[in-house]
Formats: sequence, C-alpha cells, structure tokens
Amino acid sequence: MVRKAIIPAAGLGTRFLPATKAQPKEMLPIIDTPTIQYVVQEAVDSGIDDILIISGKGKRTIEDHFDRNYELESRLAQKEDESFYNEVMRIADMANIHYIRQKEVNGLGDAIYHARQHVGDEPFAVLLGDTVVSSVIPVTQQLIDTYEQYRCSIIAVEEVPKDKVSRYGIAGGKNISEKLVEVQSLIEKPSPEQAPSNLAIAGRYILTPEIFRAIENTPKGKGNEVQLTDALHLLMKREMLISNTIEGKRYDIGNKLDFLKTTVEFALKRKEFSADFLSYLKEILQEHS
Ligand code: UTP
Repeated sequence: MVRKAIIPAAGLGTRFLPATKAQPKEMLPIIDTPTIQYVVQEAVDSGIDDILIISGKGKRTIEDHFDRNYELESRLAQKEDESFYNEVMRIADMANIHYIRQKEVNGLGDAIYHARQHVGDEPFAVLLGDTVVSSVIPVTQQLIDTYEQYRCSIIAVEEVPKDKVSRYGIAGGKNISEKLVEVQSLIEKPSPEQAPSNLAIAGRYILTPEIFRAIENTPKGKGNEVQLTDALHLLMKREMLISNTIEGKRYDIGNKLDFLKTTVEFALKRKEFSADFLSYLKEILQEHS
C-alpha cells in the first residue's frame, strides 16, 4: 500500500527569476491558489494523508500556508460569507504534513534522499511541487493502481511531439500494454534522433525504497547535482521500472510560458468568470491579429 508522499520543493527556481528571488516558486498562485496546494490536494485525493515536503532556504511561506492563522481565522469568522473561513480552515487541515530541509540544493535525487528515514521500508509517491496535473482520476491514484498490479517503481509519462523531446527526460522500452512500458532506457533531454520514444517523464512517481540505495550510488551529474533520472537508471538494472502514460494534462509552472498557459486554461475552467474572461481573450486576440 502507498501511504506516504514526498513533495520536493527546495529548488531555487532560477527559470522564474526575479519572482522566485524571495518567494518559493511552489507558492506562485494559479489564479488564487498556490501551485503546491493543488499538488497536496492531488495526493490527498489519491488516498494519501502523510506528506513530507522537502523544504529549504526561503521556503517558510509553504509551512505558513498549511498552518493555522488564528488572527485571519477570527477576522473571517466575523464575516457573513463563510466561504473564506471554511477554505482557510480546510487548508490547515488537508493532511498530515511534515517538513525536512534540504540544506544545499544538490538536485532532485538528493532532495528525495532526505526522505529515507520518514519513508522507511515502504513504497512512496513523489509529486514535484512545481507541476500540476489536471485529470479526472488523480494521476497519483493512476500510478498507485499500476503499482498495486506490478509492485515495482512506476514513473508517469506523457506523449510529447517528437520535435520537443529535447526539453524532457525521455523513457523508452518494451510495451506491456497500451499505457505501460517496461523502461529500458532513460535519456535526459535527447535530440529527436537519440530519443528512444516520445514519452516524457511527467513529475509524478511511485518509488520503492530501493531508490535510496540507487541514489547513494549515483554520482553528481548534470549541473553538478544528484539527478533522479540517473538514480532511476541504476534502479532499472536492479528491478523492474514501468512507465505509465497518464490520462490527464501536465502543467509545469517552473517556466514562464507554461505558467501563463496554465493560468489561462485554469481561468477558462472557473465558472465565476470563464465567460467574461473568454470574451476578453477574444477581444484582445482581435486587436493582435
Ligand atoms: P526543478 O529542477 O524544476 O526546479 O525541480 P528548480 O531547480 O527549482 O528550477 P530551476 O531549473 O532553477 O528553474 C523540480 C522540483 O524539485 C524541487 C524543486 O523545488 C521543484 O519543485 N527540487 C529541485 C528540490 O527540492 N531540490 C533540488 O535540489 C532540486
């Protein structure tokens, strides 16, 4: 059973400077909700209530966001409209959230290694704190369902256009079913000629504790950081690793253009202003065409 989730959120967010100089990119709001709240919600909706956030320097607002705020609560309690009060209380009570600090930003592999004591000898989910997935069935739940069947590490992937493979980590291997592949090669940012497929790693994983031994044996790689993809390479030699094409759409808010697209798409789904927002978009499109 997968009971625990790790959310790495200690990175520097350099692609989103200057916004991320003094605030975590994981707290950048998609309309009115911090990105990491969507991520925590996905874990909770997948049946997980024990969450470890990998935090670091300048990330205190993440802890504050999921904590009680008595002054705000008492102000909101006096208002006739109870919706904000209820939402603020709900956020503080979403899950059992723990924190550990990654003192040096040594890469995603190193961030996950910080979870080894908390995780113990169980499989666990990893949800990147800067990636949201919009789907009918929460994507972590989709991976857990596959884990229950195969009992090995599972990585979420999504199909990307062949000419865009060089932006992603790409997984290739032997087909098990329409959605599942036994991974035999993992290449970080390959050229379209080198790419073993067009399946891009999508920021969600179920990992067995064997990953910690793999990380221990992974030397620093790209950017002088311990890369999770390199550790998965080692893991793949010791036990089966499966990629699971997700049903849903992934949004990586860590880069500015994708953040903008995410904001627009999420705004178009909001009942209270989607119609007004759509007519505004049409208007400015006309102005620009
Ligand atoms: P990214 O590589 O996208 O984040 O990591 P980054 O390093 O913050 O971004 P740039 O490249 O400088 O713009 C994906 C997730 O893993 C976390 C990040 O916080 C992000 O949520 N992460 C990354 C860590 O927790 N620790 C690390 O050492 C690196």
